[in-house]
Amino acid sequence: MEAVRPSRTAFGVAFRRATHQLHDSPPLILNDPVAVAILGPRTLPDLHAARKDLDQPVNIALRAFLVARSRYAEDCVAQAVATGVRQYVLLGAGLDTFAHRNPHPGLRVFEVDHPATQAWKRELVAAAQLPPQPSLTYAPCDFESQSLPAELAAAGFDLAAPAFFAWLGVVPYLTLPAFRTTVSFLAARPPGSGLVFDYAQPRSELPFREQIARDLFAARVAKVGEPFQLYFTPTEIARELSAFFNLEDLGSGELNSLYFALRSDHLRLYGQSGRIVSAWL
Ligand SMILES: C[S@@+](CC[C@H](N)C(=O)[O-])C[C@H]1O[C@@H](n2cnc3c(N)ncnc32)[C@H](O)[C@@H]1O
Repeated sequence: MEAVRPSRTAFGVAFRRATHQLHDSPPLILNDPVAVAILGPRTLPDLHAARKDLDQPVNIALRAFLVARSRYAEDCVAQAVATGVRQYVLLGAGLDTFAHRNPHPGLRVFEVDHPATQAWKRELVAAAQLPPQPSLTYAPCDFESQSLPAELAAAGFDLAAPAFFAWLGVVPYLTLPAFRTTVSFLAARPPGSGLVFDYAQPRSELPFREQIARDLFAARVAKVGEPFQLYFTPTEIARELSAFFNLEDLGSGELNSLYFALRSDHLRLYGQSGRIVSAWL
């Protein structure tokens, strides 16, 4: 992504999480009372206007994937906390609001993001007058050019203690070396640590209709300066994560069973492109 501009895709993701709060029927997949507030009053008219496009298939599928992704990560954090983990690191945090809703006493939250995106987020947090969170520490870092361990250590992260890492909506935008450098660092964390991230399957693995959807989506993100660069098949991901245990790699079917099975509306995931994986040490 561009060095000086905040991430546009981070805004797009946050916008859809906010739309979920305003327009989807209960029970929400991701209950996030801060999702609308963080975007500020200027975004409200657009959020309300988004109602008319809510039921377009492409919007349903994307919104379902994004809220399921955050929900799954937060379920994994709860699991990590239950086994004694006290550090949660959001890699490429964007406008994620977990730190402002953290329900786990004693859990420290580190938000790592590209410096330009993080500075913009901090402005939005201040403008929305969200109360300061003593458990939250910001750690600006560009995964392509800076050292994640060094930036985390400088922010007070305890390298000797286990941690859970969420890396949501970031991997497709990275180069393979940056992805592997980060995975090696995560694989060297103490036992009990874990991670969750989502990835996209290569175009060639998708049925024709999804290839068209992929092309449109890829063109859109490239246009805002954040091109997709990295794709994996589930077999490749298993290989990349060979240092980890208890891999759970979920596609649309599994995520629909987990979170959407009892819904009476149309909100559910479609297609094979996006997958979410968790793994532990
Ligand atoms: C699609 S957004 C997802 C944001 C957030 N995880 C969420 O789910 O709302 C992608 C995020 O990755 C971050 N990102 C992309 N490339 C990065 C890099 N090289 N270094 C650090 N962050 C990066 C962007 O700043 C942005 O916050």
